[in-house]
Amino acid sequence: MYQEIDLDKIDISAEPPIEEPDRQYYYMRKCRERVREFEQKYGRLPKFCVVNMGCQMNARDSEKLTGILTQIGYIEEEKEARADFVIFNTCTVRENANMRVYGHLGQLSPVKKKRSQMKIALCGCMMQEPEVVEKLKKSYRLVDLIFGTHNIYKFAELLYTCLESERMVIDIWKDTDHIVEDLPSERKFSFKSGVNVMFGCNNFCSYCIVPYVRGRERSREPEAIIREIKRLVSDGVTEVMLLGQNVNSYGKTLANPCTFAKLLRKIEEIEGLERIRFMTSHPKDLSDELIEVMKNSRKICSHLHLPVQSGSTAILKKMNRKYTKEQYLNLVRKLREAVPDISLTTDIIVGFPGETEEDFEETLDVVRKVRYDSAFTFLYSKRTGTPAAAMQDQIPQDIVKRRFDRLLAEVQAISAQVCARHTGKVLPVLVESVNDHDPSLVTGRLSSNLLVHFPGDQSLIGTIVDVKLDECKGFYYLGTQSR
Ligand code: 5AD
Ligand code: SF4
Repeated sequence: MYQEIDLDKIDISAEPPIEEPDRQYYYMRKCRERVREFEQKYGRLPKFCVVNMGCQMNARDSEKLTGILTQIGYIEEEKEARADFVIFNTCTVRENANMRVYGHLGQLSPVKKKRSQMKIALCGCMMQEPEVVEKLKKSYRLVDLIFGTHNIYKFAELLYTCLESERMVIDIWKDTDHIVEDLPSERKFSFKSGVNVMFGCNNFCSYCIVPYVRGRERSREPEAIIREIKRLVSDGVTEVMLLGQNVNSYGKTLANPCTFAKLLRKIEEIEGLERIRFMTSHPKDLSDELIEVMKNSRKICSHLHLPVQSGSTAILKKMNRKYTKEQYLNLVRKLREAVPDISLTTDIIVGFPGETEEDFEETLDVVRKVRYDSAFTFLYSKRTGTPAAAMQDQIPQDIVKRRFDRLLAEVQAISAQVCARHTGKVLPVLVESVNDHDPSLVTGRLSSNLLVHFPGDQSLIGTIVDVKLDECKGFYYLGTQSR
């Protein structure tokens, strides 16, 4: 587990260590020297900005980048244009994620021309695509450092190389079976934290680029996970979100295999930890053992994100999802029997190649039957290199858009009804922040993940309080503290 290391005690006149994470601490120390030189030259410490563009896994990676930059001595800056080191942690799950990155780079181009000390770095999933790196090399010379998802643990070393070099530094690995523990990380919230349990994905859903950019499935050792959570708890964390592309297949590749359900049981025993969340669950791997653990747990939140993607068995087959509509609905029934009040959320893709009106109706049918608390709906996006991109019958954009709007209307109408089911109840809320719009209110989350606003002050942040849910406003509640 990461211990505070006194970087100044590291001897940088010696050769860099071969072993990790010692090698990275050595480079952090070397970068710190560069920070001191910067301070002498400019009369202030250099500022960094980490721009997170992706999912919760990316957000967690961004916390690791932030942790390393902070250790080195950089100061956090919210505005990209004012930072001396800007790093974009990119996503590539849909085409529009890529477009956003080019947009940001375009905006920074004139800024960088005026500020010679500014360095721009790109990392994350989009960098694992060879065409992207080619395009950056050709048309985005303002970028100083590019690395991918597999060598993020080498960030300190790469940063040092970048600070030493005038040229674009590129280091992309095709895959890795390596997991480096014990690197620093900075949490965004003092009371909750994401915790990686596994990396990569072996499922190869036919539309999805993730297995190509995040590599093969690798699980962390249960002991390393438990150690990290215990340390987080001793540092004030009461809620953890266990992260993985497919947490239900956790542990299969370990030397001593361990199921996700067993891991949850061990985590449940950690004293001081109040809430456990996890995502993402693949329906095909959600075991009866896991349902049983959820049923008997006091700490696992009554919320499950269970991406359905489509309601049509034929489309699910083409998507390589390995379950049918009926199997999915049956799973939902079992979950609701075990955990009656569970909130279910999902991901749905509209316009997958070959999707007919009938297939789409099947998706609407699932939405009506399951009655999700909320659903993330996506227009199908063609990702080069995935099997679906080569499928013949791509659906015209106007048809996809019309289906998407119909789906969204259905999802929202149901969600407003479903979310209102707690009106009048008193339920525990973990307070997260003072309300952005009204400072007399605080904002927190129910176990179901719904937001609640109620009168309170800063002192409540990080605590769990009982709140009477007076009024549901569709996607959130207004409440009052119950004493
Ligand atoms: N097009 C649209 N949505 C996609 N997703 C993954 N790949 C694509 C794609 N090519 C969605 C899935 C997944 C979520 C994270 O992103 O619904 O669950
Ligand atoms: Fe992509 Fe499917 Fe893996 Fe999720 S389970 S990351 S959708 S391939």
